[in-house]
Amino acid sequence: MALENKLGITNSAELADVEERISKQKAAELFETGYLDTLEAGSFAALAEIHRYLFEEIYDFAGKLRTMNIAKGGFRFAPVMYLAEALKSIERMPQSTFEEIIAKYVEMNVAHPFREGNGRSTRIWLDCILKKELGMVLDWSAVDKQDYLLAMERSPIKDTEISLLLKEALTDRISDREMYMKGIDASYHYEGYSVYKTADLSDTTDKNKR
Ligand SMILES: Nc1ncnc2c1ncn2[C@@H]1O[C@H](COP(=O)(O)OP(=O)(O)O)[C@@H](O)[C@H]1O
Ligand SMILES: [Mg+2]
Repeated sequence: MALENKLGITNSAELADVEERISKQKAAELFETGYLDTLEAGSFAALAEIHRYLFEEIYDFAGKLRTMNIAKGGFRFAPVMYLAEALKSIERMPQSTFEEIIAKYVEMNVAHPFREGNGRSTRIWLDCILKKELGMVLDWSAVDKQDYLLAMERSPIKDTEISLLLKEALTDRISDREMYMKGIDASYHYEGYSVYKTADLSDTTDKNKR
C-alpha cells in the first residue's frame, strides 16, 4: 500500500515513479531559478522550504514536521515529542568548518524531521551550507551508495566515516549545473529512485517564463 498522497495513487510502484519524476523536476528548478541561494543556509526553515518545494504536489506533509515516530534499520530517529526542541538546538550548531558542518548534518539526520524524503532534502540542505560557508559542494555522483548508507548508519554513533567519505567528494565547482543534476540523480539512487535523469526533466524554457 502506498503512502497517502495528494494524487490519490494507491499503487506504491506507480507512486515511486510519479514522485521521482515530479520531485526531480522540482530539484532542477530549485537550482535553475537560483531559489536555493536565497535560503538561509543551515536554518531549519531552509530545510523545510526545500522539502516543501520538492514534495508539495505529492504530499500534504511536505515541509511539515512529522507526527509519528519512525525508525530505519533498527535506529529510532528523534521522538516526535522532542523534535521541535531538537531542531532549535541543531539550528544553533556551528557551521564554520567542514567537520562542524558534517556534525550538523548528522544531527539533522538523527532528527529526521519529515515523514519521508529526509535523505533527499537534507543532502540539498547540506550542499547549501557547504556552498555558503566553504565555497564548496559535494559531487554526490562520486559517493558510492553502499558506502554512503553504511557510513550514515554508523553516523549517530561516530561521524568519522561519513566525514571522511564526503570530504573526498568535495569540489569547488559550486555553479556547475551538470554536476548538480548528476548529484540529484545520485542522491535519488541512494533511496532507490533511478528511472529519470534530472537534467532531462529540467525545462529551462519554462524557467524563463517565470
Ligand atoms: N539506519 C540508519 N541510521 C541512521 N540514518 C539512516 C539509516 N538508514 C538511512 N539513514 C539516513 O536516512 C536517509 C533516508 O531517509 P528518508 O526519510 O527515507 O529519505 P528519502 O525519502 O529521501 O529516501 C538516508 O539517506 C540516510 O541518510
Ligand atoms: Mg525514503
